[in-house]
Amino acid sequence: MLFTLLALAALPGGNALLLRDNVGRLPALGWNSWNAYHCDVDESKIMAAANQVVKLGLKDVGYEYINIDDCWSVKSGRNRTTQEIIPDPIRFPSGISGTAKKIHALGLKIGIYSSAGTGTCAGYPASMDYEALDAATFANWGIDYLKYDNCFVPQEWNDQYSACVPELSGGPYPNGTCPNLANPAPEGYDWSESNSTKRYNIMRDALLAQNRTIQYAVCNWGLAGVNSWGNGTASSWRSTGDIEQNWGRTVEILNMNSFALNSVDFWGHNDADMLEVGNGELTDAECRSHFAFWAAMKSPLIVGTDLSVLKKSLVDVLKNKFLLAFNQDDVFGKPATPYKWGTNPDWTFNATNPAEYWSGKSKEGTLVLAFNSLSANATTEIKWSEVPELKGGDRWMVTDIWSGKSLGCVKGGINETVQSHDTVGYMIGEQCGKGYMRIKNRPQ
Ligand code: GAL
Repeated sequence: MLFTLLALAALPGGNALLLRDNVGRLPALGWNSWNAYHCDVDESKIMAAANQVVKLGLKDVGYEYINIDDCWSVKSGRNRTTQEIIPDPIRFPSGISGTAKKIHALGLKIGIYSSAGTGTCAGYPASMDYEALDAATFANWGIDYLKYDNCFVPQEWNDQYSACVPELSGGPYPNGTCPNLANPAPEGYDWSESNSTKRYNIMRDALLAQNRTIQYAVCNWGLAGVNSWGNGTASSWRSTGDIEQNWGRTVEILNMNSFALNSVDFWGHNDADMLEVGNGELTDAECRSHFAFWAAMKSPLIVGTDLSVLKKSLVDVLKNKFLLAFNQDDVFGKPATPYKWGTNPDWTFNATNPAEYWSGKSKEGTLVLAFNSLSANATTEIKWSEVPELKGGDRWMVTDIWSGKSLGCVKGGINETVQSHDTVGYMIGEQCGKGYMRIKNRPQ
């Protein structure tokens, strides 16, 4: 078998990590245990999720990774002889390799979790100083994806400077200034020289040395300027702290990501964190918006709910063919971006009322999303003349992404009453034929 092929290739977005078989070229699609079960994870839950992914048709539309998050190993320590991390024998009686075989038998791939520190975030053994051994162990078990967290980093590995993090500092500031930041990096500092980058690159190289393709997902919560170097280190990198099972946090993360999409293209994706569709307090409207924007931003789409009780309408959201096609487009790599903020003036950093009008180009046409961030019904106004991809045309063939119905040729744009926190979306295809316009405009 050939060795995993790595190349750091020059792409418009900078140096990107390229893996063989196109792994990581498009955002990952899958399921992860954390948002549904947190530490309460075991093989039966993992296999139940994998079976549901098949049964519900999620596999057929592209979901492929079944990822085990934190708490899968023996907490008290490594194997004293081999130094390997030991899968918890009660939670995973057939070992992680046994679970991997079962996942692979379903035609799916399996992911695992560790941390670039001495412990995982829940305090289990992690991979710092054991990168080569753990990468080899994971490869040996048949692992296809590693989520690599940022807990228990020893002091000597601290970064030299503090990064300006929009989440903690209240926004992206003009000219890169960041008020009240202790120990800021000097202007022009290259964050790819930071200790954080080094910690994550050690595991990247350990994975690449394996005779197996393992997708690498950095999870350092948007710290250490990861948007500027994540692309050369991993296939995706978390751009913010953790999502929660509520709208406030979901929309806050949407706002932060809306300012951090420049580095997203083929081979490198901001991970806006795993989906909460189906969880907690999120309403159906909020789930639609959450999924629509995560797909449009080209975030990995990693489902995080108990699929055995997910209602059909939300399964359908996860399977929305227009949004998945946009997210997985193999010709256009860039995400959708805001073209108008709506409630707030353009470029306002606001955690409850972020950018509401977004567009992006795809093989099928231009995706346009409009979202109501207010707490009551509101009218969204999409005007073709404001959508950058539609400049120069007043009549377009339009399909509603939620109903799948063609609206035919639509002139000017679409105004619609949208319920609180919901999103309307359209795939804009061809311009309506000029002949059609002439006929319509002909004087009677
Ligand atoms: C957090 C991470 C979460 C989850 C958790 C496990 O740091 O962001 O997604 O993996 O650790 O302890």
